Amino acid sequence: MDFEKLAPARRTIRRFAQQPVPDAELKHLIDMARFASCGSNKQLLRYLIIRHPETVKTVFDCTRWAGLVAPRRTPQWGIDAPLAFIAVTIPADASPIVIADAGAAIQSIEFAAWERSLGCCWFASFDPQVVKAATALDDSRKVLYLVAVGFPAESPVTEEAVDGDVAYYLDDQDTLHVPKLPVDELCQWL
Ligand SMILES: Cc1cc2nc3c(=O)[nH]c(=O)nc-3n(C[C@H](O)[C@H](O)[C@H](O)COP(=O)(O)O)c2cc1C
Repeated sequence: MDFEKLAPARRTIRRFAQQPVPDAELKHLIDMARFASCGSNKQLLRYLIIRHPETVKTVFDCTRWAGLVAPRRTPQWGIDAPLAFIAVTIPADASPIVIADAGAAIQSIEFAAWERSLGCCWFASFDPQVVKAATALDDSRKVLYLVAVGFPAESPVTEEAVDGDVAYYLDDQDTLHVPKLPVDELCQWL
């Protein structure tokens, strides 16, 4: 997909078809993420690809979904929950710049996924200790973010934010609307 179509079209997905994501597709996402910019080109990120159902369930149970519309966009296990997560890990002693590295990499994952008809939900709200224990991650690394990945079972819509209101919301048809600020409100020309 052309980037000019991809960037505005991609939306966070929080309802998933109960169709496993092939390993080759998950590998492709990391293959795209590895080219992202990173501080000093150190490439400190590593990825745990979680798709064993028991581990996915443990991780799923420690995630928190869409606070502004909870619980309506909290998926239910076995119905519309994701069947895979990617855990982005960093060295336990890494400098804060790896947070930016992870942002760049996850953005690539999200776009690569959308291009392959997959959807993602990026998580900062989860219990890292639960994920660490479930994945037997050693003490030299920690989990910074999670990304749920799966085939979308919802079609959120992008819209222009009015009067600075950026709160996403669900309409009467249970469609998620995601307002984005207009470009002219974001720029100061000097
Ligand atoms: C750093 C970061 C952390 C996020 N954490 C969560 C989270 O814990 N739970 C969740 O449901 N969504 C989470 N999101 C998804 C945002 O809610 C979502 O990106 C935002 O509503 C805008 O929607 P969009 O991705 O469709 O543009 C996170 C996104 C980012 C970038």
